[in-house]
Amino acid sequence: MDKIIVKGGHALKGTIPISGAKNATLPALAATLLTGERIHLSNIPHLKDVTTMLELLGQHGSAITVDERLGVEIDNSGVNNFRAPYDLVRTMRASILVMGPLVARHGMAEISLPGGCAIGSRPVNLHIDGLRAMGAEITLDEGYIRARADRLHGAHIILNPVTVTGTENLLMAATLAKGRTILENAAREPEVTDLAIFLNKMGARIQGLGSSILVIDGVDELHGTEHRIIPDRIETATFMVAAAVTGGDILLTDTDPEALETPIQIMREAGMAVELPEPGRIRVHVPDALRPVDLETCPYPGFPTDLQAQMLVLNSLARGTSRITETVFENRFMHVSELQRLGADIRVHGNIAEVHGVDHLLGAPVMATDLRASASLVLAGLAARGATTISRVYHIDRGYERIEEKLQALGADIQRTTS
Ligand code: EPZ
Repeated sequence: MDKIIVKGGHALKGTIPISGAKNATLPALAATLLTGERIHLSNIPHLKDVTTMLELLGQHGSAITVDERLGVEIDNSGVNNFRAPYDLVRTMRASILVMGPLVARHGMAEISLPGGCAIGSRPVNLHIDGLRAMGAEITLDEGYIRARADRLHGAHIILNPVTVTGTENLLMAATLAKGRTILENAAREPEVTDLAIFLNKMGARIQGLGSSILVIDGVDELHGTEHRIIPDRIETATFMVAAAVTGGDILLTDTDPEALETPIQIMREAGMAVELPEPGRIRVHVPDALRPVDLETCPYPGFPTDLQAQMLVLNSLARGTSRITETVFENRFMHVSELQRLGADIRVHGNIAEVHGVDHLLGAPVMATDLRASASLVLAGLAARGATTISRVYHIDRGYERIEEKLQALGADIQRTTS
């Protein structure tokens, strides 16, 4: 089991390139199942979750060529297996994204129910109800979702609560359904919009991009195309916080500040100098002391839940009291007890974390629990005095490409040990 050892106290300096977005790559890979023609995707991040999705596509019969420099070429003309097995789905819930495309193009799918995870029960009822509204016959047995449809038809679907992958699954299914589908209260995350742009390049007819009402007029088939995955906004913001908590000064490249409007506003309130020197680049440094900021996570364009853990670290080192409210997931404070081991003064009351800033954190052994929580432990380790050893780092590798290499390049003392 790999561990990461961070010795804190080094101000991060230098330039860091941002990778393609994990949460745009996964739906885009699933969307390739909607056509039998070749698709080329570039700016693909090298992440465990992406490898898992490619494995899943391979099991369906996809022919995949990975080009280290450019990305992946996918040919789904030979897809002949419509089952997403438990042993893959349990390692990555986003596997459910193949359900909409498989039912839409092949009329069937057998998808293992993803089950819950550390941050919540993570139901998929909206995915299922939406496909049923579009005419799919769906049964749940032996832990599998079994879906059948001769041809899906359009429907008017209201999504409540807002669901990112639920919106993506139904959006993909609707592209090949007969007639018009309206997705109301659709997720507006940049990754959803990037998927819609990609689908329209494949010949889909989607309107309302970026809004909460997506209107899709189904077509008979989609064609091949190429697409470049958007930068990872969560990776970007995670490294911005790393600069802030170490008193560093970094330049992030190959990124997109427009997808981070709310986080950048909050970070500036926290005392971070966030400069946009040129398109695709962000410079971050902290001229004075950090200030505590209150925030509430909510669907885009609100503050992302995937940045909640990182902001807890920032607030832990700011002078004063702050509150962070988690409204998206019911159990997303697992990292608090680990941060407390590092000396953070955080008290959780229901879905509110109350933070009292401390002068410094002290390194200690900690354990990662989920992807973004584990990133917050790295941030805390970078800021803490002494060494922090993080176990169960496989959580980190799911969503951050070569995190220790990127941080080493900024002067961090961070090593991975394989025991
Ligand atoms: C996506 O997960 C992201 N994953 C998550 O990122 C992210 O935290 C989340 O959206 C919220 O932004 C991917 O895009 C692969 P949801 P998703 O469906 O789609 C409830 C990361 O770290 N809900 O938007 O699974 C659900 O319980 C990951 O990269 C239902 O009730 O999240 C939650 O409370 C973690 N029924 C809320 O909606 C459903 O059918 C939002 O979940 C679906 C969801």
